[in-house]
Amino acid sequence: MSEIKNITVIGGGTMGNGIAHVFAQNGFDVKLVETKQEFADRAMNTIDKNLSRMVSKEKISEAEKQATLERIQPVLSVSDGVKSADLVIEAVPENYDLKKKIFKEVDEHAPANAILASNTSSISITKLAAVTSRPGKFIGMHFFNPVPVMKLVEVINGLETDSAVTDSIMEISKKLGKEPVPANDFPGFVSNRVLMPMINEAIFCVHEGVAEPEHVDEVMKLGMAHPMGPLRLADFIGLDVCLDILNVLYDGFKDPKYRPCPLLVKMVDAGKLGDKTGEGFFKR
Ligand code: CAA
Repeated sequence: MSEIKNITVIGGGTMGNGIAHVFAQNGFDVKLVETKQEFADRAMNTIDKNLSRMVSKEKISEAEKQATLERIQPVLSVSDGVKSADLVIEAVPENYDLKKKIFKEVDEHAPANAILASNTSSISITKLAAVTSRPGKFIGMHFFNPVPVMKLVEVINGLETDSAVTDSIMEISKKLGKEPVPANDFPGFVSNRVLMPMINEAIFCVHEGVAEPEHVDEVMKLGMAHPMGPLRLADFIGLDVCLDILNVLYDGFKDPKYRPCPLLVKMVDAGKLGDKTGEGFFKR
């Protein structure tokens, strides 16, 4: 495979700006595609803030911060953003129709040898690959929040992903200082197939009156050494995202063990989505 130098990240939200940040910090040129200037500005401000935090902790110098920022170029159109990409990573919201529309456009404008990757946390890589003309060059590259901190990249092979593409994505993940772990394409892959039932069960504990949210979290933090309790983590991930992923598991396996807790559904209906709305199981 030819060397990967130019990266395009589609979407500058929490995951997208984190992905752009780590690639740029490791010397890659990054185009960050957003739909509006204000969203692009917000993404760049977040990256600036996260880099400043690293400067104040003396993990990087001010010069490295500036060089990292200079390697990221915000772009307001998919076709412009991907035209010279070696690797395109999509990090837009978890909505199949949206991702399908974006990948059709990416496939049309990206060079024929470019690898297309999705940061989806649960949507089928095989199904997304099928909307493009290059399913062999399509792969899942699943990062974890906060991207600059978390070591894992879950590398998901679709049904037709070429092994050379998997090797290249494993290698580039290591160049980012990450630890890639391969998985095959089944609902929720490994990460969310294991994580989401735990979060859902924690919500059932509150729903059934087993314990208050802070006590559920204390049990898992103090007894199992989790850095965040499952309900705090659910707020951090977004309760809407948790519900979407549980529905993917439930629909994908047709197994009632993945049914979303009614309390989770009710909180999402009420617009209590966690940190992003200021309230979930806890207030921010
Ligand atoms: N950018 C850069 N650095 C950051 C950062 C960011 N966005 N956020 C935190 N950090 C750094 C801090 O500077 C700090 O660095 P030092 O250790 O050098 O001091 C370190 O991370 C820890 O941060 P804090 O001291 O502020 O807070 P903390 O010790 O409570 O850790 C945490 C915060 C890293 C988020 C920790 O609570 C944690 O690991 N939580 C679990 C996170 C998790 O499970 N993420 C996965 C979610 S699932 C997902 O993303 C995918 C999906 O499919 C749903």
